[in-house]
Amino acid sequence: MLFLPEKIENMFWEYRLGIITRGLAGVDTADDEHIHYGTVPYRTINTILDHLQLTHSDVFVDLGCGKGRVLCCAAMRSIEKSIGVECSPSLSSIAQHNADVLRFHHSPIAVLTMEAQQFDYSVGTVYYLFHPFGPETLSTVLEQLRSGVERIPRSVRIVYVNPVHNNVLKDCSWLIETEKWNAGESRSPVHPVTWWQNKIDRQG
Ligand SMILES: C[S@@+](CC[C@H](N)C(=O)[O-])C[C@H]1O[C@@H](n2cnc3c(N)ncnc32)[C@H](O)[C@@H]1O
Repeated sequence: MLFLPEKIENMFWEYRLGIITRGLAGVDTADDEHIHYGTVPYRTINTILDHLQLTHSDVFVDLGCGKGRVLCCAAMRSIEKSIGVECSPSLSSIAQHNADVLRFHHSPIAVLTMEAQQFDYSVGTVYYLFHPFGPETLSTVLEQLRSGVERIPRSVRIVYVNPVHNNVLKDCSWLIETEKWNAGESRSPVHPVTWWQNKIDRQG
């Protein structure tokens, strides 16, 4: 639940960026594997993005980008590109509109209307997931990401907000959990956040 100061701060950011991402919405194809739309406060998103220390060569991918709040915030940084993947056509069209009207100079944004399992995992250096899917989809997506990184070797980081199925990542021997933020900390008051990295990067 958000308190009034956070709500006001979120409204301030929406006004500043010229986008509208508030409100909950259903998923057109809702089931146990497709989690409905929701997002986190701008303050938390910006804290996460600061912590990532993104550079101009980063390609930021939000799997299940919803209305594009995180996508737009990432695009305000000097990165190569931000990519949003969203299965709901109504949500992805809102994300595309937000990307089109986003104020200020920003990095390129692509919004793809597709299931995360259809994405080409040979790109992307940072993957952001705010509890978008159930364990089966997550497992498939991680296997696709593993083979994408094998095809095109590179460092990949994963930020998992509200890590309901963190055990699925723990089962991936090619990943290392580098950090965990607990819920209630000032940097992420509502949800825990786990941070992951592929081992290739560690060895390289
Ligand atoms: C909790 S919301 C997160 C939205 C956004 N990442 C954010 O933080 O503002 C989860 C999103 O994932 C999308 N989603 C669920 N399953 C998906 C799938 N298999 N492929 C792509 N998107 C999916 C939902 O439609 C929803 O917009």
